[in-house]
Amino acid sequence: MIDLHSHVAWGIDDGMPNQPDALEALQMAKTDGIEAICSTPHVVPGQLDAQWLSTIRARQEELRAISDIDIYFGAEVMMNSAFIDALDEKWYPTMNDTSYMLVEYDVRKDIHRIPDFMDPLYELGIRGYKPIIAHIERYFHHGLDWDIIHAWQEAGYVLQINRTSIMGIHGKQMEKNAKELLTQGVGHLVATDTHRANGHRIACLSDAFDRVSKWIGSENADLLFEQNPLAILQGKPVTNLTIKKRRFRFFGR
Ligand SMILES: [Fe+2]
Repeated sequence: MIDLHSHVAWGIDDGMPNQPDALEALQMAKTDGIEAICSTPHVVPGQLDAQWLSTIRARQEELRAISDIDIYFGAEVMMNSAFIDALDEKWYPTMNDTSYMLVEYDVRKDIHRIPDFMDPLYELGIRGYKPIIAHIERYFHHGLDWDIIHAWQEAGYVLQINRTSIMGIHGKQMEKNAKELLTQGVGHLVATDTHRANGHRIACLSDAFDRVSKWIGSENADLLFEQNPLAILQGKPVTNLTIKKRRFRFFGR
């Protein structure tokens, strides 16, 4: 499995607090069957600037140096009110230097409370970036809004779902959202969003892989946990899920 959303690089955001914890998380990932991780520290436009990126990059280099498993570099960029202004300065990191950029909204707000939420995605698209929207299930606090989800799909955005939501760690509503999305064929990749070495937001994917396999089959799970993440690291297009509709047979006289 390949994990493209992880705050395992220590001391640069609200993720891993120190190097020993990062090492513990890397060991857990390896034991769990994760073969590669993309380090995606939070980048908050307006709060962090281009200079801070060199600090982030230096820490990512250190992480790579101590890791047994492959480490790639990326970031999780917050689409806040300062996002578009700094976009043309071209300092937001992309995933492994491809055109894919992992972006997020503020998860504390329901998406209906975020004004003009499509604008930053549109601005990325016209500049040749391919947005990966982080943990899409977490923006719908009162159930999914399919108009929004269809708009994202039609625009061709890549949609990421968190292991923690699939496992019920963010509560019943997020679990329900994640299951509904996946069983309706929505989602291109599942990732850990690792923040700690212990507790809930850990470097583990196998439990979610098993659960997703039960929901939509192991071939779809392979796509979400391995093939699409690999395609993203290589800058190639992702593949959509294939959900077999249940066939009813009617036996009558
Ligand atoms: Fe994250």
